[in-house]
Amino acid sequence: MPDAPDAVEQLRRQVEAETIESEEEAEAFRVAYLGRKRGKVGALFDQISEMAPEERPAFGKAVNALKDDAEAKLEAARERLAQEERAAGPDLDLTLPGRPPARGSLHPLRETLGEVTSVFERFGFSVAEGPEIEDDWHNFGALNFPPDHPARDMQDTFFLEKEKNEARVAGEQNGHTEDPKQDVVLRTHTSPMQIRVMENGEPPFRVVVPGRVYRNEALSYKSYCLFYQVEGLYVDEGVSMGHLKQTLSLFARSFFGEDVETRFRPSYFPFTEPSAEMDVWWNDPETAGGGQWMEILGSGMVHPNVLENAGVDPERYTGYAFGMGIDRITMLRHDITDIRTLYENDVRFLSQF
Ligand code: PHE
Repeated sequence: MPDAPDAVEQLRRQVEAETIESEEEAEAFRVAYLGRKRGKVGALFDQISEMAPEERPAFGKAVNALKDDAEAKLEAARERLAQEERAAGPDLDLTLPGRPPARGSLHPLRETLGEVTSVFERFGFSVAEGPEIEDDWHNFGALNFPPDHPARDMQDTFFLEKEKNEARVAGEQNGHTEDPKQDVVLRTHTSPMQIRVMENGEPPFRVVVPGRVYRNEALSYKSYCLFYQVEGLYVDEGVSMGHLKQTLSLFARSFFGEDVETRFRPSYFPFTEPSAEMDVWWNDPETAGGGQWMEILGSGMVHPNVLENAGVDPERYTGYAFGMGIDRITMLRHDITDIRTLYENDVRFLSQF
């Protein structure tokens, strides 16, 4: 057994040789030297009993000093480690590229709507918007729908509770709309704006009306309870079917491209006479025949009854009107196969545009 002071000296050198570079090493140091049970410093005290009484005080003093020094070393190491950790800051890698902020984009319907109206603006049309809650007169009556026309049927039209809207309807100043007993509906098309535009101004009229319309239809991949239309109205002296064809063909070339093919098919609407639908040839290599005709709008010469209902003299003025479906065009352009996705506002869908 080594001389007692030698043992203290030996352990002191051991303690001094220790390096403490982490929390784990600090804890290991504490257990090895200062631990209550097996700590090497504490173990030295055991030797006191074997010593000559006169040697004991000096020995005890030396062991206590070693204990103080070991504790000081441990505390200094812990302080240094804590400081280093603070200096390192939170655990982040400053060399990583930053996260770009999420950028919004136009909803595909809004984008198509904007492009369609801007083509007509370049043609000299102005843009107007109208109410989505309409009265029977503007949505049907003034547009020459007979009282028993199937489009007025509950199947197609969303009716609002009449009583709740009586005050609103009664408040309107335009001729027929003063009847508080008429039906109030969610507009089934943008055509009521033909009437509103004409009854609030003097010809000529040259306006497009983008907006939402509502129909009570069975929901499926190709029909939804609301959708978008752009209405067009041009009324002046001497407006003809030729103007209609020319303007809508020019629109198709501006919107779809110079080499787009269009065709007009005779059709029927109560508020136009004659009426026609316009189709565009939609190229699609996956379809037999390389594509198909897609109907994009209904149109026609404004019916004289409609002009008269809106206070425009049908002897003097003629006009054309059209109504274009925006959803189908949008779906074709973006390869969207289910109309409902346009209304669900799922960001995973929308962020693709
Ligand atoms: N309003 C008709 C529809 O919703 C479209 C149309 C508008 C037809 C204007 C002719 C003139 O189907």
